Amino acid sequence: MSDPYWNHNVHYQPLILDLIPDGCKRALDVGCGDGLLVRKLAARIPVVTGADRSAEMIGLAQAESRHLHNVTFVEADYLDDAHGLLSEGRYDLVIAVSVVHHADFGRALEGLARLLTPGGRMIVVGLGKNRSAVDWIAGGVAQVVSRIVRRPHGGKRGPHGMPAMDPIMSWGQTAREARAILTGCRWRRLLLRRYLLVWDKPWHLPSERSLRQEGSRR
Ligand SMILES: C[S@@+](CC[C@H](N)C(=O)[O-])C[C@H]1O[C@@H](n2cnc3c(N)ncnc32)[C@H](O)[C@@H]1O
Repeated sequence: MSDPYWNHNVHYQPLILDLIPDGCKRALDVGCGDGLLVRKLAARIPVVTGADRSAEMIGLAQAESRHLHNVTFVEADYLDDAHGLLSEGRYDLVIAVSVVHHADFGRALEGLARLLTPGGRMIVVGLGKNRSAVDWIAGGVAQVVSRIVRRPHGGKRGPHGMPAMDPIMSWGQTAREARAILTGCRWRRLLLRRYLLVWDKPWHLPSERSLRQEGSRR
């Protein structure tokens, strides 16, 4: 079935679907907007949750997904889940598309990591701020390519009122911080104004106690 609209986020949804880990049983799409990606995930994953802090987006996502029985939408802020609507350590796959770029990056990545089950996968598709000459050139190329890629999809626009904000960190900063925070993550810049960050949470994270013991032995 063809997509109801096209934008850079929708363009990279097939890439995300290709990265679903084998045996994935529970997935969470954080900042799910109208739930378009959640509906695609639901065709491959037994249980899928979409979370968004916008009541309007959750209402829209629910209305568009009534026919699906393995999907739930919750109005929740992943940075401040005051009502405990998201289950920490329970998802095999946590996805955030165009969501973390306006938050404190460290807090955002740590918040997403906490939601993952050990061995689970985090996929972030995000954007950065242009700062270097390379950034501006890549941005120009993206604009041209985007016009060409967009053409077959006509002028179909995304849902009215989908909240969007500008990035606060540059592309380079994003790559550096991601690598510092998530050991072993893969970060790469994509052609159309997005980067891809993939991280597999280790099965065994060193406990604070063993880290302290390790420190005192040195
Ligand atoms: C630019 S839209 C992207 C929506 C969707 N991921 C997509 O690819 O089309 C960003 C979405 O993230 C949501 N969002 C932003 N910060 C959030 C937070 N802290 N917790 C939950 N949702 C958030 C916004 O309400 C908005 O629906």
